[in-house]
Amino acid sequence: MSLKILRPAPSSLHPNANNVQLDENGKLRHFLSFDGLKADHLTEILDIAESFMGVNEKSSKKVPLLRGKTVVNLFFENSTRTRTTFELAAKRLSADVLSMNISTSATTKGETLLDTLRNLEAMQSDMFVIRHADSGAAHFIASHVAPHIAVINGGDGQHAHPTQAMLDMFTIRRCKGDFTRLKVAIVGDILHSRVARSQIHALNLLNTAEVRVIAPRTLLPERVESLGVQVYHKMDDGLHDVDVVIMLRLQRERMKGGFLPSRDEFYQQYGLTQARLQQAKPDAIVMHPGPSNRGVEIESQVQDGPQSVILQQVTYGIAVRMAVMSLVMRNAGASA
Ligand code: NCD
Repeated sequence: MSLKILRPAPSSLHPNANNVQLDENGKLRHFLSFDGLKADHLTEILDIAESFMGVNEKSSKKVPLLRGKTVVNLFFENSTRTRTTFELAAKRLSADVLSMNISTSATTKGETLLDTLRNLEAMQSDMFVIRHADSGAAHFIASHVAPHIAVINGGDGQHAHPTQAMLDMFTIRRCKGDFTRLKVAIVGDILHSRVARSQIHALNLLNTAEVRVIAPRTLLPERVESLGVQVYHKMDDGLHDVDVVIMLRLQRERMKGGFLPSRDEFYQQYGLTQARLQQAKPDAIVMHPGPSNRGVEIESQVQDGPQSVILQQVTYGIAVRMAVMSLVMRNAGASA
């Protein structure tokens, strides 16, 4: 069985089209995307993450919330910081953690996924964190797991990466406060970025004053305006007066064909240099989900500069992932 035929149709990626991740009381049972979620769901995660910040700063960094639970990180696609921060988050919640990197062949993905799932269920796992190259993979797994298991999407294809977006929201809230007064620009390869899709969704749920995307036409999805963003093709225009600049990596591995004139030309037009950053507010913050490419989308001086919060994002990612894991596990326990 191929996973491809089980992908949700594009229309089902719109808000409220499915609610496998919500229980009958509207509580977050799995965390797969922002579809059907309300601002309260996001604020609850941010508030719980805030409470974990203290734990992560102590010399002994453990709380017993997931003691006796088994978390399996099931990564079918490469990852460094997402996998390791999920692993650390689970350990700090006192869970037993198993991290698996699985490379799949295109023809046997569906079988591998279901077979692997059944085996891990037989080992009495309680939570799966999934990263997969196919959009819809985490949703597919959540629809097939035993009722007591919680599923978290660690990034599926070009569809969603909700915990990354939540750690980005946490970083913005900590540095800038109220979303309703903020102008946020997301720059670069929006087309191939699951991170950008999730960020746009989350920023809009949190009522951000203005969400902008800055990119060449070839790196924007069709009808991108319908996602609730303002579109800019020139950096100087799009960066003007923004509070937050989010840079994205060029997802070359997903590009089939001529999306870009050349890497140098891209950097000339869309690279975030210190000079360009002057267009943003003087206290604007610079973010990047990583991995970043110096000299391709961001100047080294900016990446390491005083406005960069890129490493804070990584640190906050642990608290946010602890929040998501403890929340879905609590809700799974309540509804199982
Ligand atoms: C992102 C991803 O994998 O989607 N990285 C991450 O999770 N930190 C972005 C990327 O790969 O460019």
